[in-house]
Amino acid sequence: MNEKIERLKQLVRESDNIVFFGGAGVSTESGIPDFRSVDGLYHQQWKYPPETILSHSFFARDPEEYYRFHRAKLVIEGVKPNRAHLRLAELEREGKLKAVITQNIDGLHQAAGSKHVLELHGSILRAYCSKCRKPFPADVINYGQGVPRCDCGGVIRPDIVLYEEPLDEDILHQAISYIRRADVLIIGGTSLNVYPAAGLINYYRGNKLVLVNLSETPYDSYADLVIHEKIGEVFDQI
Ligand code: APR
Repeated sequence: MNEKIERLKQLVRESDNIVFFGGAGVSTESGIPDFRSVDGLYHQQWKYPPETILSHSFFARDPEEYYRFHRAKLVIEGVKPNRAHLRLAELEREGKLKAVITQNIDGLHQAAGSKHVLELHGSILRAYCSKCRKPFPADVINYGQGVPRCDCGGVIRPDIVLYEEPLDEDILHQAISYIRRADVLIIGGTSLNVYPAAGLINYYRGNKLVLVNLSETPYDSYADLVIHEKIGEVFDQI
C-alpha cells in the first residue's frame, strides 16, 4: 500500500466525523460513464450536446428528444454499487462517516446501504408531474416510449436538477452544515467543474481535505492529500 493511501487509512481510523462529497467518478466502476472523461457522456455524439439536452429549456421545448436521451443514456440496466459505495456505507455503520453528499442521480449510495445521503442533483429513481407535482414511480419515465403524462395533462419529469434549475435549498444547507463541521472531508470522483456543487468545498474549515480523483481538479492545490487513483481501489484499502 503506498504512503498516500496509508495516510488516508490513518485519517479514517482516527476520525469519527468524516464527510464524503462525490461525483460521477464514484459510479464509473459500476459501469456508469461519467460526464467529462474522454469516454464520458459529454464526449459522446448525440443529436444535440448532452449539456444542452439536460437543461430546463430543452426539456420544455423538446420533451420527446429529452426522453430519447434519458432512456438511452441515463438509465443503465443492472448497475450495482461498487467497492467505494460499499465502503462508505460501512464507514457510516461504524459511526465514522456522517454523510454522503453526492452529485450523482443513480441511487447507488442508498443501494449500498448508506442512510445519510444528500442528493444535490436529485435522482432518476423518482419522478413527478411538472404541473401538479403528483409523484410517480420512476418506471413511468425510465421505460416505455414517448412523453409520459399525468392525468392532469402535465408532463411527468424526473426528480433531477437540470441545467438552469436551482438546487434544493434545504439539501444545500444540510450539505453546507455537514461540511462546515467535518473533521475529515473526502472528495472523490468529481472534476469539481459544476457550481454551486463544487463551491461546497469552500465551506470546509479543517486541515484534512482529501481528494481522490483519477484526473487533476482545480482544487488539488487546496487539498491536504491528493490521490490520483481509482476510488474503488483506494477505498478497498482503507
Ligand atoms: N476513480 C476516481 N476518479 C474517477 C474514476 C474512478 N474510478 N472515474 C472517473 N473519475 C474522475 C474523472 O477523472 C473526473 O475528473 O471523476 C471525475 C468525474 O468528473 P465529471 O465527469 O465532470 O463528473 P462530475 O464531477 O460528477 O460532474 C458534475 O456535472 O453535468 C453535471 O449534473 C452533472 O452531476 C454532474 C455534474
